[in-house]
Amino acid sequence: MGIDDILLFDETIFKNIDVFNPDYVPENYLHRESQMEAFAMCLRPALRGGSPINTVVLGSPATGKTTAINKIFSMVEGNSDKVVCVYVNCQLHTTRFNIFSQIYNKIFGHMPPETGVPFSRIYGSIMNYLQSEKKSMVVALDDVSYLFYIKNANKIFYDILRAHEEFKGVRTGIFAILSDIEFRYMLDQNVSSIFIPQEVIFEPYTIQEMFDILNDRTKVGFYPDVISDSLLCQIAEYASSVGDLRIGIDLLRVSGNFAEADASKTIEKKHLLDALQNTDSTSLKSTIETLSTNEKILLKTIIELDADDLIAGDLYKSFSKNTSTSYGSFDRMLNKLEFLRLIDTKFTGKGVKGNSRIIILRFNNEEILKLFEHIRI
Ligand SMILES: Nc1ncnc2c1ncn2[C@@H]1O[C@H](COP(=O)(O)OP(=O)(O)OP(=O)(O)O)[C@@H](O)[C@H]1O
Ligand SMILES: [Mg+2]
Repeated sequence: MGIDDILLFDETIFKNIDVFNPDYVPENYLHRESQMEAFAMCLRPALRGGSPINTVVLGSPATGKTTAINKIFSMVEGNSDKVVCVYVNCQLHTTRFNIFSQIYNKIFGHMPPETGVPFSRIYGSIMNYLQSEKKSMVVALDDVSYLFYIKNANKIFYDILRAHEEFKGVRTGIFAILSDIEFRYMLDQNVSSIFIPQEVIFEPYTIQEMFDILNDRTKVGFYPDVISDSLLCQIAEYASSVGDLRIGIDLLRVSGNFAEADASKTIEKKHLLDALQNTDSTSLKSTIETLSTNEKILLKTIIELDADDLIAGDLYKSFSKNTSTSYGSFDRMLNKLEFLRLIDTKFTGKGVKGNSRIIILRFNNEEILKLFEHIRI
């Protein structure tokens, strides 16, 4: 098929391509009944004039934690106006001010001014509101590990959980979400005096469960009979082997695109093979292209250092030779690279404040270097 044909070909196998987007919230949320029930039990007291039960939510990436929280929060909000449910992504909001601005926004429908308003006034408005309206509040801190990097967890937990000491009758709770089990002990170390949570565990999905979820997504996203069960099974097996449901969902979308480009009304094995080859490098390239110049330089520095145990402090030394960046911005950039799943970082428990991190590239060095040949810095 020529370029014109591809562009003008107006038949599509996608009933709704948005279904394969990362932020799509599925209508059917499968295989997590027991976790949803556990959440309901923790939130039930809040609907009856009590406090929500503090909870820690544990599970590896793409096991449905964020989706579950969003689902249960909308169910609570649909059933009662007595509970304020706030979702905060701690990869994006790490300071006390930012996090309470998110809470403020949820309650009042707009952000507080960024300057000129002291934290205590924002905090006071929130708590006065909860007190006078007799509402309880639960705050989901997603990817809460990020609060440990800047040593903010303790204060923020304290601000939320001990509000009743200053504002009588206020009832608050926290759902802390973690995708790395190693942080479980950090949570204990940092906030155990005020936060004694219930645990809700999100086990990895089995191949069969992945198949069911992908099958459901297929029904909503594609027209009937676009993909065979056996091909879907292969996608589920692949996603299960890499332990990441997101990859399975992405493979559906990319194989669909290959089938369309081939003017095929069905997805065939060859389209899946093309998708498998393409998925990694295409999505990686477009992710890198969205980075700022300094972020690209930082990523390149990590690749060029090519060290096994790359410590954040050492990386900063090399990076700051090429740029004039403060340690704070450097740290935020690392968080962003991790958020985009380009790198992993792990605490070593060593360093001046015991919080130095090791940086691990999630991709093959040479693969990224090759991509950099086609990316403008
Ligand atoms: N049980 C499920 N049913 C349908 N879709 C699901 C289910 N679990 C996860 N998904 C889908 O898988 C993807 C990842 O889910 P989600 O973002 O909730 O995972 P997570 O556990 O929060 O991951 P991370 O730890 O990386 O933040 C999303 O596209 C979501 O729609
Ligand atoms: Mg999540």
